[in-house]
Amino acid sequence: MASRFVVGTQFGDEGKGKITDIFAKQADLVVRYQGGNNAGHTVVVGEKVYKFHLLPSGLIQGTRCCIGAGVVIDPRVLMEEINRLDDENPQLAIDPRTQIIMPWHNLLDGATEKMLGNKKIGTTGRGIGPCYEDRAARIGIRFVDLVDRERLKQKIAELYPLKKKILELVYGENVEFTEQEVLDEYAALGEKLKQYMGDVSQEVSKALADGKEVLFEGAQGFFLDNDFGTYPFVTSSHPMTGAVFTGVGIGLIKEYEAFGIVKAYTTRVGGGPFLTELNDDLGELIRQNGKEFGTTTGRPRRVGWLDLVILRTSARVNGLTDVAFTKIDVLNGIEKLKICTAYEMDGKELTEFPADWTLLEKCKPIYREFEGFEVDPETKNYNDLPQAARDYIEFAEKKVGVKFSIISTGPKRSQTIFRQ
Ligand code: GDP
Ligand code: IMO
Ligand code: MG
Repeated sequence: MASRFVVGTQFGDEGKGKITDIFAKQADLVVRYQGGNNAGHTVVVGEKVYKFHLLPSGLIQGTRCCIGAGVVIDPRVLMEEINRLDDENPQLAIDPRTQIIMPWHNLLDGATEKMLGNKKIGTTGRGIGPCYEDRAARIGIRFVDLVDRERLKQKIAELYPLKKKILELVYGENVEFTEQEVLDEYAALGEKLKQYMGDVSQEVSKALADGKEVLFEGAQGFFLDNDFGTYPFVTSSHPMTGAVFTGVGIGLIKEYEAFGIVKAYTTRVGGGPFLTELNDDLGELIRQNGKEFGTTTGRPRRVGWLDLVILRTSARVNGLTDVAFTKIDVLNGIEKLKICTAYEMDGKELTEFPADWTLLEKCKPIYREFEGFEVDPETKNYNDLPQAARDYIEFAEKKVGVKFSIISTGPKRSQTIFRQ
């Protein structure tokens, strides 16, 4: 059986949670491999809405879930999320190598943003960047340290005075928690979470060797990638298929489907370039219709037209085999729709995103106009969609060069069309 990758192709919030939940039913394992609780993945089952930040979205289906070494874990959030589950005995494994977000990481995230002033990234404030910084600096606290009070005590004794000094003397912040308070709270969390520790690298490798189906759930979106996104307006991990191997600790996979999740328009939360952004009433209408307010922070998402330049680059670098095209229903009732097919720069056409995005200042989006449509979210067969909707979908599909094998017409599981 093939394994599946689910990755965001734009700036996050494409509907990865919904698609992961659908695939999770038949998967043997669902695995997160990067990011942390900056993610907000929504799964709607009947009238119930689940929001996952750290736990893989496969847990609702009762599928066994893993959190790989490449993820950063805030144990307070993890504990809360586990407590909120309907399942009292979730099938969950957390790799001992995952890095732990400590309270000073949240403070440093906020302090760095404050220092940047109007150049701030617009982070989620969850301490993600500072935690990955400590991993790179080789001073981070890992899950294996969290679950052992003596090891944790030693680590905190080394780090607390250093972080306090940086926060107070460099950033002028107040650190209100004591070293003892941090130790007591985190050791208690470690004690409760210890039962989930397991070598995810080994477990997933074995599952793959046994021919099991593994579903890799990406967080964020490709254009938030630390190298390939719109740096510095990015996150601190690698939201791309390539990161699965380093984020879980497995070898290359021979048989797979790489699903890029594409929203039928574009959204972005936080700062950074956005060439097809709509700063007008139409943008506001799409924001309202699509309920485009952050799952994690509640911030209004910036909204704009679908951008094929972004999608071509995403498809190439992620090696996409398929696309799940989501939220087409949100465009219902808009008379004329636009898709950006390329950027014009100095009389030339760019069809892929430039390595140096500051060139976007010289670029103008080239648009193709489409007739509006009215999609019934309960449509079951692709051919029953209005012709104008199919024209919109098939144009994008042809230009991106990857089959759009799933069309999502609403947040519910049933509102999904599988194309043959
Ligand atoms: P993720 O971060 O990629 O998992 O996406 P989010 O959960 O942050 O945001 C996607 C939002 O759109 C959620 O509220 C979903 O319930 C919702 N959603 C997903 N697919 C569709 C769709 O096809 N139509 C509509 N109207 N909503 C959808
Ligand atoms: P999901 O998985 C949308 C954005 C933040 C900010 C930048 C850096 O739900 O798609 P960070 O806190 O990671 O240092 O913030 O990345 N960002 C997201 N935007 N969806 C997400 O996750 C995001 N995770 C981070 O808004 O611009
Ligand atoms: Mg989200």
